[in-house]
Amino acid sequence: MTTVNILGRLRIATEQVRKVQSSLAKDGPPDQVEILGKVGKELDGILYNLVDILSDDTRQSEINITSNDGQISKWLEQTFSSKPQRSTTAASRFESIKAVIQASSFVNALQRQVRQNAKERLSAVLDLPVDIYKLNLWSFNMMEYDEPFVFSILLIFDAHDIISRYHIDIETLKNFCRALTDGYQKYQTPYHNDFHGADVLQTTHCLLIKSSLMNVFTQIEIAALLFSAAIHDYEHPGLNNGYLVKTKNDLALIYNDFSVLENHHASSMFKLLRDKRCNIWSNMDTNEYRTFRSLVISLVLATDMANHASLIERMSTYFYFKETNSTTPSADSKTLLQTLLHAADISNATKPWSVYIQSAERIMEEFFIQGDLEKINYEDRKPTFDRESTDIVQLQIGFITHIVHPTFDVLSKVLLIDSLDYAQKESKATTNLSNYTLPWQYDLQLNLETWKQISRNGDLKKMIAKRKPLKLNYDYLQEYVEKAKTVLRKRSQHDLLLNCALSS
Ligand code: CMP
Repeated sequence: MTTVNILGRLRIATEQVRKVQSSLAKDGPPDQVEILGKVGKELDGILYNLVDILSDDTRQSEINITSNDGQISKWLEQTFSSKPQRSTTAASRFESIKAVIQASSFVNALQRQVRQNAKERLSAVLDLPVDIYKLNLWSFNMMEYDEPFVFSILLIFDAHDIISRYHIDIETLKNFCRALTDGYQKYQTPYHNDFHGADVLQTTHCLLIKSSLMNVFTQIEIAALLFSAAIHDYEHPGLNNGYLVKTKNDLALIYNDFSVLENHHASSMFKLLRDKRCNIWSNMDTNEYRTFRSLVISLVLATDMANHASLIERMSTYFYFKETNSTTPSADSKTLLQTLLHAADISNATKPWSVYIQSAERIMEEFFIQGDLEKINYEDRKPTFDRESTDIVQLQIGFITHIVHPTFDVLSKVLLIDSLDYAQKESKATTNLSNYTLPWQYDLQLNLETWKQISRNGDLKKMIAKRKPLKLNYDYLQEYVEKAKTVLRKRSQHDLLLNCALSS
């Protein structure tokens, strides 16, 4: 069992002890209530130390999968968890998020107000196809625009004052955007290309502005987060780590099988920045650059999906501490930044169906190309992704259920709770959780329900318009979106009635 699994079990046990303690608190025997209180505190302390031990690069992530389809379980386990490895390093940087809020929020808010006018001018001056208000939308579809990096980087960096604060020259920034695009287009991959990179940047920007997190992080953290989002898959070859390791690819040998792709994305990007024409950070203070570079490396490496379970467990424990108001409620802001980037990276399933389905089609085609290569070049009879036999519907259901849902669930809780902290600090004492609805909550449910409807009634042959390259039959799928909408509507009416009945 890995430390992450132990952490998860311990957290659940602690929650149960706390529940029993509070149910006995009123009329239970006082001596037993006291003992339970002490046990709870002790468990809290152990939990806290355990999170501390799990440094951000700890490779101890295993997920429990209960899928009937063996092939899909294997894919989920191989991609989103890693075999246990002992790590002796303890986390050295574990700072209170509240302290960060106090230090940065006021200054940041002030700076943002001052620069508001400049922002509105930029898209007109540079003749960009969209403005920042469009990029603020969760439903924005990056695939509708050419050269997505040029406008998304310019507008989003400007919106967060990154251009002015770090004295970035606009021509250098444009050169950088073109070089970044070239890198993302190097292998002509269906999914891991410039649309995906720009989409993750825009989604990360949305996550920041839809919560009070913009006021939680420091300027350098925001710059590092947005830059990492843009570059996190730079020069992606469209093949996964497992494949590169299995085939003894040069990259796997260079990085000793350890987060091969993620190491390459970060390393080749910093190599690009050695070119003066592209170095947008040349005016950054040397000490700041050191912090920035270290943060970017850590954030990009954390996009290795083998970290998924570790990240989610650390965030769940943080939420538990916040919720129970235990003695030592602190969070590592780096973990929070990593979770935001991880969430943005897998966010396609939380977007409106018409946007999501395009990403799903592209990633499935990329998986199938890898499967084709495994079959042709390595005579692998059972590739992870087989164009002929992989059940796309079950794969999407498994991906949403086991990976996307838990990630956005914990993120929603943490965002709401941190927003509340911030709101209370700003003396908005009346704010409560029900005032917030996060943009992904409905579409994530709808997308999952749509696949479930297809799985129940669908004719899978009709779903696929073409097998190579994969093309899905959008019109046919739309019927199931409508069915799923009806199901969700009925479910919410039922929940409403149930709540009324319970409260009356
Ligand atoms: P990568 O971009 O390296 O990191 C996130 C991973 O999530 C991605 O590779 C895929 O393995 C997986 N992923 C993202 N979107 C989907 C999707 N719609 N269906 C299945 N897997 C996905």
